[in-house]
Amino acid sequence: CLMESSLPLQSYKEAADWILAHTDQRPKIAVICGSGLGTLADTLEDQTVIPYEDIPHFPSSTVPGHAGRLVFGLLNGKRCVCMQGRFHMYEGYSIFRVAFPVRVFSLLGVDTLIVTNAAGGLNSDYSQGDIMLIKDHINIPGFCGQNPLRGPNEDGFGVRFPCMSDAYDRHLRRLAMDCAQELCLQDFMREGVYCMVGGPSYETVAECHMLKLLGADAVGMSTIPEVITGHHCGLRIFGISLITNMAVLSYDSSVCANHQEVLQTSELRAAALTALITRLIGNI
Ligand code: 6GU
Repeated sequence: CLMESSLPLQSYKEAADWILAHTDQRPKIAVICGSGLGTLADTLEDQTVIPYEDIPHFPSSTVPGHAGRLVFGLLNGKRCVCMQGRFHMYEGYSIFRVAFPVRVFSLLGVDTLIVTNAAGGLNSDYSQGDIMLIKDHINIPGFCGQNPLRGPNEDGFGVRFPCMSDAYDRHLRRLAMDCAQELCLQDFMREGVYCMVGGPSYETVAECHMLKLLGADAVGMSTIPEVITGHHCGLRIFGISLITNMAVLSYDSSVCANHQEVLQTSELRAAALTALITRLIGNI
């Protein structure tokens, strides 16, 4: 028995066609809201809300406190679609299902994908509450074959062996840094390498040292499946990690990574992140 590793093109088309038939909105920008950024979607004007469960083939959310819906609307004058609630591998979804919405967005006519997440800081120059623009990633699940593009290639979406050295759009990162400056956020701004692990357990001290040694500045449990899939099909990608906590790198530390801290820091920076993304989108 072969493990299922992909969905037929038809599933993506049916999901996209269903959405096109249920709203007149035709966004060019999609935003995947990570922990603490769900409030961004609430600020959209002229909203159309579609629960994930209504869309054919769409996975549905299992994490309590994560909404599961697409919010279409205007953000700073631009038509956007926000994913309020994302899918994680640790919930049990196969990696290609986690990335399913990204191909659907592409079929809707989206050309720019903004991804956000909460992450633990590994770089010792970082502090809790920092905002890290993602310049590159390390796909740890990919090292053992967990890649969303595994399985037959859909040539209509992209090539068999896509380049990933240019996944995070340089121009958007520069634009975001300028926006951060204008919002007086420059003291919290960083640019670094995001590393994905499967979760749901946080890293051991030894694992944190290993990831740091590999060149990671922040670690989390999401985002890379969507980025690989988005870059494959030609979307322009911009990613942000909110450093919600510092990873534990000392055996003498009494600190333990925990979800409460992640949520608290998200709440603390939600307004700043929303302002940054709103301004960036206005300038795209
Ligand atoms: Cl410390 N690790 C991982 N894997 N994900 C996180 C995190 C840490 N902090 C927030 N999300």
